[in-house]
Amino acid sequence: MKLLVTGGAGFIGSNFIRYWLSKYANDEITNLDLLTYAASQASLDDIKNNPNYKFIKGNIGDAALVKPLVKDSDIIVHFAAETHVDRSVLGPEAFIETNIKGTFTLLEAAKNHQKHFHHISTDEVFGELALDSSDKFSETTSYDPRSPYSASKAASDHLVRAYSHTYDLPITITNCSNNFGPYQNPEKFIPRMITNLIDGENIKVYGDGLYVRDWLHVNDHAQAIELVLKKASPGSTYLVGGLTQDINNLEVAKLILQNMNLGEDKIQFVKDRPGHDRRYAVDWSKIKQDLNWHPQHSFSDWLKLTIDWYQANESWWRPLKNEAENLYKKTGQ
Ligand code: NAD
Ligand code: DAU
Repeated sequence: MKLLVTGGAGFIGSNFIRYWLSKYANDEITNLDLLTYAASQASLDDIKNNPNYKFIKGNIGDAALVKPLVKDSDIIVHFAAETHVDRSVLGPEAFIETNIKGTFTLLEAAKNHQKHFHHISTDEVFGELALDSSDKFSETTSYDPRSPYSASKAASDHLVRAYSHTYDLPITITNCSNNFGPYQNPEKFIPRMITNLIDGENIKVYGDGLYVRDWLHVNDHAQAIELVLKKASPGSTYLVGGLTQDINNLEVAKLILQNMNLGEDKIQFVKDRPGHDRRYAVDWSKIKQDLNWHPQHSFSDWLKLTIDWYQANESWWRPLKNEAENLYKKTGQ
């Protein structure tokens, strides 16, 4: 099988490519990535010489570039996006360009060749849940995006479904919760905490810290995508989440401090994110029931491995750290 992976130099895309080639060594992967600030080619150093892997630097919004790549593939696995909520608050335009118009360009190419289009989306399209409720998002939850990032992802989800209904394009969609693991840009919460602590800096907790995320390890996510690509019916959507769904940001910070033998004096409360969603939690019973997917390890076990990885791979994250902290100089966080 020939896969066209977009955004494969980013966090989840690079982990997915490594996962896929380790299981399906005879498949061919073309990675189309613009190499924005979020990318790191070093994330794929170990497979860059694999004869079944090809890298192309380019924009998913470039129709002339995208058309022949789509034509030459059996399946498109679409990760490429602007992904950071804080950046979408500062400057939404790139999110509209890449997440909406870029997805549209890929869909047009896929439509012309009737290729299976798998769209990676987010639980943030559903909005927020109340802290004092036990509600979870499911495949039937209404869309209610609240940041420029999540609005752009919601728009792209709608376009993908519109191409399925209108043009019979074989599509699948996964909406997953917060990923963590190796090769995640240190602008995101968990790697920002670990790398700050390695540098002797504080953990920066937004607002009151009582915000809840549903943490999914990136390897578990890669396996969920694999099952959907191999087994799901065209037109279907699956939600993917983690095992620990009730831990708030402050508790995650304390767990990392314990693991790194540091005290809670390292916690610093900073300005809150505008429009900060209170809680996310994903009901992933459909993918469990239909495709027999479930996370492989507990949150705390995956977290320990993630801390170890950042401690052992400073040469990977160090070049990305300044750019991440420049963002927070602008936001005051
Ligand atoms: P990331 O920010 O780490 O990587 C994004 C990649 O896309 C980068 O390599 C970047 O260079 C590339 N890219 C950006 N614009 C491009 C363009 N116009 N053309 C080609 N390439 C472009 O992102 P991630 O965290 O790996 O997220 C991957 C996907 O998963 C995104 O669609 C995101 O919305 C979704 N998602 C992420 C999470 C998460 O927790 N990280 C959770 C839910 C959904
Ligand atoms: O839910 C899925 C989404 O998860 C993805 O669609 C996004 O692409 C991904 O970036 C992520 O969005 P979040 O905004 O939830 O992730 P982030 O790592 O930016 O923040 C996680 C939580 O931690 C959130 O409540 C904000 C808070 N936070 C974040 C940072 C960077 C802090 O308290 N301090 C920080 O320094």
